[in-house]
Amino acid sequence: MIEEKVFKNYPHKHLLGIEGLLPDSINYLINLSKKYANYLEDNNQKLDDLKNKTCINLFFENSTRTRTSFELAGKKLGADMLNISVGSSSIKKGETLIDTAMTLNAMQPDLIVVRHNDAGAVKLLSEKVNCGVINAGDGPHEHPTQALLDSLTILRRKKTISGLKVAICGDIMHSRVARSNIHLLNTLGAEVRVIGPATLIPKQIESMGVKVFYKMKEGLKDVDVIIMLRLQLERMSGSFVPSIREYFRYYGLNNEKLTYAQPDALVLHPGPMNRGVEIDSELADDLDRSAIFEQVQMGVAVRMACLKALVKDR
Ligand code: CP
Repeated sequence: MIEEKVFKNYPHKHLLGIEGLLPDSINYLINLSKKYANYLEDNNQKLDDLKNKTCINLFFENSTRTRTSFELAGKKLGADMLNISVGSSSIKKGETLIDTAMTLNAMQPDLIVVRHNDAGAVKLLSEKVNCGVINAGDGPHEHPTQALLDSLTILRRKKTISGLKVAICGDIMHSRVARSNIHLLNTLGAEVRVIGPATLIPKQIESMGVKVFYKMKEGLKDVDVIIMLRLQLERMSGSFVPSIREYFRYYGLNNEKLTYAQPDALVLHPGPMNRGVEIDSELADDLDRSAIFEQVQMGVAVRMACLKALVKDR
């Protein structure tokens, strides 16, 4: 059993977003994640923190990293993890989200992890069940565990978040990763910038406490961390960029544009990556500059911490 000494607790029933969480709650989850990350580096054995607990993964949208790491995280804690494949469920026969939630609730799981293509759908579901719910991404709204694992990765490399200059680049408009990271990084005291073409930056985003830049050269000046985002073509109706080639030329990160940032600037990407669209392939694979696979590794530890924090004793 991993000890939880550093911060009091995570006082909420659900994890639906980073917005509104106090620094103590965020720090509690990050510190517990650090402990699990340290444990996983030295041990291959399963823990029994969630023995006899049942968690359901309910993903209405595709996922590789998030779904797999929640499953792995639960199994490493000794929980029974069930994956509901929406394609072969009664959702395909027209069952509504609320009826699906109430049906799963009747089976008395200890926690449900949900990804849905509509903003707000995970919150709606959480109101219909007795157990805790974790948002694994709801449309363009929030992806809280991604932001937590991004911060854990930054902390491992940079030792602090407070005072860092962090640039989030690309398709801000359609990105739940951007929203969750803006909330989290601001709460922990970073200076957050967003960079992208005007068509992909929401109006009034400054009200979230970020500085807006439309040119990589200006936005990347002196930054410590660069978070590149995928062009979310599946969420776009109409054309937001002239062409992929033009986009890469102006907003794709390569070694040349990286020179605008601090000499030791760290590159992150939540994945899935489109090589040659938002990031140069060689840079993505450069383990000194890019922490993309470390992010995936930290994803398991963060999801262990979130499962542990939200599964309650009955
Ligand atoms: N970053 C992320 O959410 O990846 P998946 O869509 O593969 O889960």
